Amino acid sequence: MSGKDKRNIIGVFDSGLGGLTVFKYLLKTLPQYNYLYLGDTARLPYGEKSPETIYEYAREAMDFLFQAGCRLVIIACNTASAQALRRLQQEYLAAKYPDRRILGVIRPLAESVASQKKIKRVGIIGTKATIASGAYPSEIAKLRPELEIIQAAAPLLVPLIEEGWAGKPETKMILKKYLRPLKTKDIDALILACTHYPFLYKEIKGVLGRRVLLPQPGEIISQSLDQYLKRHPELGLEPSLAPSRRYCTTDNPAAFKALGEKFLGQEIKSVELVEISRL
Ligand code: DGL
Repeated sequence: MSGKDKRNIIGVFDSGLGGLTVFKYLLKTLPQYNYLYLGDTARLPYGEKSPETIYEYAREAMDFLFQAGCRLVIIACNTASAQALRRLQQEYLAAKYPDRRILGVIRPLAESVASQKKIKRVGIIGTKATIASGAYPSEIAKLRPELEIIQAAAPLLVPLIEEGWAGKPETKMILKKYLRPLKTKDIDALILACTHYPFLYKEIKGVLGRRVLLPQPGEIISQSLDQYLKRHPELGLEPSLAPSRRYCTTDNPAAFKALGEKFLGQEIKSVELVEISRL
């Protein structure tokens, strides 16, 4: 990377490997940029933690990514977006890095359903912390206050997917149980408010039927980033002739590489072990 490129990086942050389901689409839609992906696998799962802990972890991750030269960070993790993004933007960025940006996943996903006029009832599934935060309902209410929202936490799905059990009948049974109350309410759209759920896209579509709108989160987030970059040339993020990809994890790089390649659907050349707490 040339000297000029050293601060020309987009950071992608997740509590672990799940964010690679978003990163995959960023690489497809915007391959010309330099990227640094950070997965805080040592402290995963975030979905069961308190708001204060999630904020502290996310803040440490931002310190690492900005010190590594990122001008913009996408928080791919729904839990961290729901519990920490607002505070990071208002308190942390303003005080420490006023010229950098942090974006989350909630606004673009909320817009993707709220913009469809025929939708009346929206289902949301996510981790316990994401659902408890009320972040999706409040974002949707800003756009379309009349929409009815039905939320459900689906905490067993993340470990099942990490275990490679996405296609197993036991997982389908649990998924059906989580989706039943949403189906009964006759939802018109479902937001997959967790990095891991796209792995169950086909199964979820199968349970809900073709009528229910099921936005693919990675697709929506990468389109939204594309538009954001076009609107904000002042950030100085420029396409690179030889774009770089760097993968960092806080625990077990070999495990990150093995599962990460499966999540990403392509080879990961190397994974660095990094220390991010108390930088
Ligand atoms: N990345 C998290 C999310 O999208 C799921 C895994 C976790 O709980 O840390 O909510």
